[in-house]
Amino acid sequence: MVARRALVLGGTGMLAGVAAALLDDGWHVVLPSRRRPGSPATNGNGRGARWVKADWTVPTALADVAREALGGPADLLVAWVHREVRASVLRAVRPLLAPDAPVVEVHGSASANPVGGCPDPILDGHPTQQVVLGYLRHAGRTRWLTHEEISSGVLEAVHRALAGKPSHVHQVGEFRPSLAGGR
Ligand SMILES: NC(=O)c1ccc[n+]([C@@H]2O[C@H](COP(=O)([O-])OP(=O)(O)OC[C@H]3O[C@@H](n4cnc5c(N)ncnc54)[C@H](OP(=O)(O)O)[C@@H]3O)[C@@H](O)[C@H]2O)c1
Repeated sequence: MVARRALVLGGTGMLAGVAAALLDDGWHVVLPSRRRPGSPATNGNGRGARWVKADWTVPTALADVAREALGGPADLLVAWVHREVRASVLRAVRPLLAPDAPVVEVHGSASANPVGGCPDPILDGHPTQQVVLGYLRHAGRTRWLTHEEISSGVLEAVHRALAGKPSHVHQVGEFRPSLAGGR
């Protein structure tokens, strides 16, 4: 049986846990990024994700290498892309997606917050779950989410996407409106 295919943008950073979980579930996972990850995500059988060298600032080239590595239409797109290049990257990879493939997009607190709201999904026709990253309060202080907390929150949205649930905005952690300088 052909494995389901997932394209994970930003999947070698804080979303590495998402890539690893998809691999564990038998997905063929493609990770475009500039630098080869030091310890690539693998599943329990040692099968790894397919990393390809690509840069968000050259979206057509990114889409070309990702298309080849996917080997067929992607059944899922998970995307953490900095807001300056978000639209161009998402539009470039749109043709790589199967017609109804869901999208899970991750936003930092500068892109999505109580003042500005959450950006509209870019890829019409693809049900989109949006994940907004916040902060955690502990002992009177706030801290960023750990990579594990981020991956766990994004995976909840992935499961919702794969269950065919309607588009939704998922908040992970709390807003800290006084700090607008995050990603
Ligand atoms: N509210 C929150 O909790 C919150 C929100 C945002 C960020 N953060 C924290 O901030 C840290 C840094 O954020 P970050 O954006 O550096 O996230 P990151 O997930 O740690 O790394 C960014 C990911 O995107 C890839 N990437 C970056 N620039 C790229 C480009 N031009 N082309 C292709 N791929 C690119 C990176 O791989 P390459 O570098 O190999 O290209 C990597 O896979 C995170 O680790 C996270 O802990 C926290």
